[in-house]
Amino acid sequence: MTENPQVNGSYWLQTAPGGAPRPALAEDLDVDVAVIGAGVAGLSTAWELARAGRSVAVLEAGRVAAGVTGHTSAKLTAQHTLIYDKLRRTRGPEGARLYARSQSEAIEHAAGIEAELGIDCDWETRSAYTYVRDAGRVDELRAEAAAAKEAGLPASFVTETALPFPVAGAVEVTGQAQFHPRKYLLALAEDLEAHGGRIFENTTVHGLDEGEPCRVSTGAGATVTARDVVVATHYPIFDRALLFARLSPRRELVVAGSIEADRDVDGMYITPDENTRSVRTAPLDDAGDGTGRRLLVVTGEHFTPGTGDTRERFDRLSAWAREHFPGVDLTHAWATQDIDPTDTVPMVGPLHPGAHHTYVATGFGGWGLSGGIMAGRLLTAQISGEECAWSELYDPRRLRTAVREAPAFLKTQAEVARHFVGDRLKPSPPVDALPPGEGAVVRAGGDRLAVYRDEAGALHAVSPRCTHLGCLVNFNAAERAWECPCHGSRFGTDGKVIEGPATKPLEQRDI
Ligand SMILES: Cc1cc2nc3c(=O)[nH]c(=O)nc-3n(C[C@H](O)[C@H](O)[C@H](O)COP(=O)(O)OP(=O)(O)OC[C@H]3O[C@@H](n4cnc5c(N)ncnc54)[C@H](O)[C@@H]3O)c2cc1C
Ligand code: FES
Repeated sequence: MTENPQVNGSYWLQTAPGGAPRPALAEDLDVDVAVIGAGVAGLSTAWELARAGRSVAVLEAGRVAAGVTGHTSAKLTAQHTLIYDKLRRTRGPEGARLYARSQSEAIEHAAGIEAELGIDCDWETRSAYTYVRDAGRVDELRAEAAAAKEAGLPASFVTETALPFPVAGAVEVTGQAQFHPRKYLLALAEDLEAHGGRIFENTTVHGLDEGEPCRVSTGAGATVTARDVVVATHYPIFDRALLFARLSPRRELVVAGSIEADRDVDGMYITPDENTRSVRTAPLDDAGDGTGRRLLVVTGEHFTPGTGDTRERFDRLSAWAREHFPGVDLTHAWATQDIDPTDTVPMVGPLHPGAHHTYVATGFGGWGLSGGIMAGRLLTAQISGEECAWSELYDPRRLRTAVREAPAFLKTQAEVARHFVGDRLKPSPPVDALPPGEGAVVRAGGDRLAVYRDEAGALHAVSPRCTHLGCLVNFNAAERAWECPCHGSRFGTDGKVIEGPATKPLEQRDI
């Protein structure tokens, strides 16, 4: 049997690494709009604004499109597993229609940009399928197919797919797309700059002063003055409307490797069963006639960051890929996380009830590619003072739906409270027993330390107290990172921030 691939990083990043980093922001700047974060949401917003004639600065803590957007499965579809039946119940038929239209128009818009800019991003039109293998769930899928159709999507219930195993039923939505997210977004970034937009990489934002104008301050001490500010940092780094309480992080794994092109699954698939399995392929060296090879991308095993054994999860996902696609040569393994809103719909719009010039785009629930492109158009309309039919649907200030979907909200809060208190009561393992490559939170004197033993045997200690809101981090041995289960902040073994909402490193400790 082939060895499971090491966690070696995203195929999308490896095959489109981008050039040398853009310079960090070194001096103060004055622009119309400052966009914080250069993922699909931030870049799409900045691009739309620059095209609308605004001066724009994008401030990115790392590299362009290297966050969640660089690690996704990159399906561009308005079918979001099972959502339309729920939307028509919680938002009414009109809400479901607006959701479908906003997401579909985003995909059409991206297709237009790809054609206009001539972006070579492996764009392929495919059907999207949500399938189940359990006959007991077929009624649920029939209801979803009917709701998606009523919402205006080309959706139908089918029992045959090109998957190499039988399904009990599936919702098919035709005319969706898949692409290489980084090739698309790197081209968008270049075009943004060609239209006068500026992008600063390795520029972490720490502060936001909401005045007229607003002031955004960076770790290096430079300030951007802007009439409007968009917070597109995935998890919002500023929370002035209790957004954290309505969002929960969900980490997921991806494995990828080549298969013969004549075994292509001819579509994009997802099932809510088996702790989520998602399957698509991408071009490798196939000639389009069934010869050559294609890349199989399999996603699944979702979990709360900082909980459980991620190595076992990678093993399960790799085993699933091999069982269903015998002979697949798995070469890549990576992980990433998205954020689920407790009331189903992403939050895109004003940052808080009193906000006049600050905006946020977050809570994409696993579908932020179409969602991020949609957000770019919606925020540009709002900043330009234009009406948009789906402003209210995505408004982060909504509370009615949050109350209506209160059980999910309460469950999220109970989980955070459980981690905040319960993780402090966990027994402490002895440091001497830590093998190389492992980490654990241990008690030393009256204090707690997050201790990691490197491959050479040396111990490294940081404070386990997450610099966001103080929950305790846990070690993810498969990815060698400290992860916070409360809102998903992630830190390196040296304590540096890998992923927010935390913006400050874990404090160094002596051991
Ligand atoms: C396994 C998996 C598969 C997925 N597959 C799909 C799919 O097939 N289709 C789909 O539509 N969606 C998919 N998604 C969801 C989608 O990838 C995300 O919703 C989307 O990429 C989020 O984009 P973003 O711009 O909000 O975040 P990001 O891409 O993470 O961008 C945020 C940026 O903000 C920067 N940042 C953070 N803090 C700061 C700071 N303080 N200062 C400056 N910059 C900062 C980060 O460095 C990052 O670059 C998937 C998600 C997962 C987990
Ligand atoms: S991410 Fe919020 S407390 Fe750690």
